[in-house]
Amino acid sequence: MREPTFFVDQIPIYGDVILAPMAGYADVPMRALARSFGSAMQYTEFVAAEEILTEHRNIPRLLDFKADEHPRVMQIFSNSAETLLAAAHKILPLAPDIIDINMGCSTKRVSGRGAGVGMMKQPCEVAKTFERLTKELPVPITGKIRLGWDGAENFLEIGRIAQESGAALLAIHPRTKEQKYSGRANWDAIAALKQSLSIPVIGNGDIATPDDIDAMLDYTQCDAVMVGRAAIGNPWVIGRKNRADLSPEQYFELIKLHATEMDAYHGERGVILFRKHLKRYLREFSAEQIRPILQITELEPLLDAIKSLQPHAYPV
Ligand SMILES: Cc1cc2nc3c(=O)[nH]c(=O)nc-3n(C[C@H](O)[C@H](O)[C@H](O)COP(=O)(O)O)c2cc1C
Repeated sequence: MREPTFFVDQIPIYGDVILAPMAGYADVPMRALARSFGSAMQYTEFVAAEEILTEHRNIPRLLDFKADEHPRVMQIFSNSAETLLAAAHKILPLAPDIIDINMGCSTKRVSGRGAGVGMMKQPCEVAKTFERLTKELPVPITGKIRLGWDGAENFLEIGRIAQESGAALLAIHPRTKEQKYSGRANWDAIAALKQSLSIPVIGNGDIATPDDIDAMLDYTQCDAVMVGRAAIGNPWVIGRKNRADLSPEQYFELIKLHATEMDAYHGERGVILFRKHLKRYLREFSAEQIRPILQITELEPLLDAIKSLQPHAYPV
């Protein structure tokens, strides 16, 4: 039998590549694709704890999972341990395997009110969150962090506090709040966090190719690598495949599978929601070639149009 790569508390994790949580992208259909390429953990898009408590109409869809999706990680955020605790209790009937606290979101709307990476400015609230949630909930509690804020890069302190307060794993995207996505992800910080903790550490940031996955594992000794933007329109990177490893037919079949899953899952909005993925799948084609395709609203005509781009012309 295959050996687990590592454990999140008692939960075995098989594999060292994970699709990153991505709001607006990493939904049920995209995760199904990533899973077929071996994504070892399945994160929801992040969800505001306050919206869970007020039963916002988007919550059931954001926290939805396929029956066979495991381990399912529900990611929540807030600026308050009490609110996170109440929201975590409320989502328990949805059967998360793991609950993850987002301490990395850098948008003003989130971090400005002390949530997301704003939590990293409140070490006491981080301690309280992990202490309360790990004590009261029957599932492991994990976190996703950044380096910190410019001039206050306190990821090692937050990592230690989270671990001492019961966190079962930390993922780190090593940029500051102010950097957002600019500059280079600081892989030395991933290595330093891994060295300073005994719980598993997931490294994240700037993975573009399968070689990058192995380079990050090697350089940082992290337990697994999380891939975000590079998996949009290129989910096979999760399975350590380059686009060039796929035949034109496989390339088309994958786009078709994703589009079909989006249509089946999201209903009439599926094809429209698929456009942002399609732009990435077809990024080597010219704007003139793509424009009419992006106006199609029905699945079958969409697939015909994609196919008519001629497999031999696929940029594989
Ligand atoms: C469109 C988009 C949405 C994201 N949404 C989330 C989210 O909901 N939760 C989260 O923890 N990180 C989120 N992130 C951050 C990613 O998980 C990841 O940390 C970041 O993209 C860096 O990894 P990459 O260089 O592989 O893209 C998002 C990133 C992008 C680009």
